[in-house]
Amino acid sequence: MEISSHLGPFSVSQAAADSRAFALLLLYCVSLLNLLIKKMGALGLLAMAVPEKYKGAGLDCLAYTVAVEEISRGCASTGVVMSVNNSLYLGPILKFGSEEQKEKWIAPFTSGDKIGCFALSEPGNGSDAGAASTVAQLVGDEWVLNGTKAWITNAWDASATVVFATTDKSLKHKGISAFLVPMPSPGLSLGKKEDKLGIRASSTANLIFEDCRIPKDNLLGKQGMGFKIAMQTLDSGRIGIASQALGIAQAALDCAVDYAEKRMAFGHPITKLQAIQFKLADMAVALEAARLLTWRAATQSDSGEPYTKEAAMAKLSASEAATFISHQAIQILGGMGYVTEMPAERHYRDARITEIYEGTSEIQRLVIAGQLLKAYRG
Ligand SMILES: Cc1cc2nc3c(=O)[nH]c(=O)nc-3n(C[C@H](O)[C@H](O)[C@H](O)COP(=O)(O)OP(=O)(O)OC[C@H]3O[C@@H](n4cnc5c(N)ncnc54)[C@H](O)[C@@H]3O)c2cc1C
Ligand SMILES: *[C@@H]1O[C@H](CO)[C@@H](O)[C@H](O)[C@H]1NC(C)=O
Ligand SMILES: *[C@@H]1O[C@H](CO)[C@@H](O)[C@H](O)[C@H]1NC(C)=O
Ligand SMILES: *[C@@H]1O[C@H](CO)[C@@H](O)[C@H](O)[C@H]1NC(C)=O
Repeated sequence: MEISSHLGPFSVSQAAADSRAFALLLLYCVSLLNLLIKKMGALGLLAMAVPEKYKGAGLDCLAYTVAVEEISRGCASTGVVMSVNNSLYLGPILKFGSEEQKEKWIAPFTSGDKIGCFALSEPGNGSDAGAASTVAQLVGDEWVLNGTKAWITNAWDASATVVFATTDKSLKHKGISAFLVPMPSPGLSLGKKEDKLGIRASSTANLIFEDCRIPKDNLLGKQGMGFKIAMQTLDSGRIGIASQALGIAQAALDCAVDYAEKRMAFGHPITKLQAIQFKLADMAVALEAARLLTWRAATQSDSGEPYTKEAAMAKLSASEAATFISHQAIQILGGMGYVTEMPAERHYRDARITEIYEGTSEIQRLVIAGQLLKAYRG
């Protein structure tokens, strides 16, 4: 391919051509996203998978993915609030709730500005969710909940939670059930807001259950199905977190390119330096690869096929892309990358959580390897 000479006195290597091609691809992609988002905004939709029957927007997972990315590009905290509300709270009720539960626990959440949360992790066990020790005991026609859930996103802002508790400890993870609990509720209190590295605008806190009584009907799905509900919910949640990571990564790249075009060093904008171009190229490759994996997971989910491996791959690649890209963005900004005047340091702090929640990167690798080996062994 013939390259025009406006790149200046530096020799134009193939790598520079590649980076330009990627930049073009990226531009195309971004304008596509903008178009989609504008259209969705004009229609008053925010990419929610809730059917119109329950006052939702009735959109598919791919549209949801695009929306979460674009929101997170502006604000990663808003991105996680949205993702948890949709994937982790509304998702399991839609999939496992009875008709009455859907009417009661979904419709009010889609019409107003109510929000839900998802309480699985505990202070003593996160990755090992099957070890959870919060208990639920049937007393008369009420469930009595006891125990502490940790790190709950939206805790301070939520009007309800899907909470996981064991009804039979001897059955280990097969003794776990899912419950719907209104917030506030007698016997349910909130811990302090955690003081976090990033996504500081979203609330994270413990939920403390002390003889918290809820009606018998608030059991979600069947007794003992809780672990399965949690794992299936996290499969779809991971697509949301991958999308959040993409948004953070895109924002970091936007910031780096914008700064590098303007920043002069040794008489030229630093985008003339091959070292900077190589960084931008690597950032774009990581971002585009992760976005394609994320969109594949979303389309697979839309088609009704299993997507556990695809969601884990999307989340792993997008979260690692986000930490890599936001790290490089700071490097490209130099000193300005390290101060709060520029958004680069925020993207770096926000990116970090995407490798931790809804399954750490180590857990994603375990899930991927497990699925891979299963497929090979047939
Ligand atoms: C800001 C924030 C928001 C969160 N929001 C929610 C929420 O809304 N709802 C909710 O239920 N939870 C939430 N979490 C909890 C989150 O999902 C857990 O922190 C996460 O799953 C890790 O669990 P842990 O912190 O107990 O770490 P641990 O499980 O103790 O892990 C510690 C380290 O050991 C590694 N490790 C553990 N087991 C293995 C293994 N088998 N193989 C290899 N490595 C392993 C981990 O990858 C990690 O590096 C949130 C956490 C944070 C920080
Ligand atoms: C939670 O999701 C529902 C359904 O999509 C939406 O109507 C509601 O506004 C959301 N709440 C917040 C605070 O985003
Ligand atoms: C899980 O964590 C709780 C504390 O949150 C602890 O009491 C319990 O023993 C842990 N379960 C296992 C099996 O380690
Ligand atoms: C719940 O914990 C309280 C103490 O906080 C205890 O008195 C009660 O017996 C427990 N209930 C159940 C059902 O375990």
